[in-house]
Amino acid sequence: MKTIAMTMSTALLALSTTLAAASDFDAAAYHDSNCMRCHDNSVYTRDNRRVRDHAMLEAQVARCDAMLETKLFPDDLALLVDHLNRNFYKFTQ
Ligand code: HEC
Repeated sequence: MKTIAMTMSTALLALSTTLAAASDFDAAAYHDSNCMRCHDNSVYTRDNRRVRDHAMLEAQVARCDAMLETKLFPDDLALLVDHLNRNFYKFTQ
């Protein structure tokens, strides 16, 4: 019984560590402090916006990110793409 409790608490600990690592990057905060230097949100919703599908969105976010010194990790870049897609583009992947 004691072993099961130990195993479970170890599993829970591992899970919460994973969750903490995954939520470390705040896409919205990152976006608002880094991505709005050159443009604001309106480029995502303008009538003639250039991004037409999810792949284009990924490519454009990567291109724009490359102009910043921060250079995000792929996981964080994906979270940033999700953030834009959820709030503005709404593509089905
Ligand atoms: C150094 C300036 C600069 C920075 C910083 C920048 N962008 Fe851009 N971004 C641009 C330019 C220029 C365009 C093209 C605007 C146009 O076509 O009128 C653009 C366009 C875009 C588009 C396409 C809009 C459309 O037409 O659908 C997306 C999406 C985008 N940026 C996301 C981001 C994200 C996310 C970040 C932060 C990682 C970011 N940008 C940071 C310059 C920048």
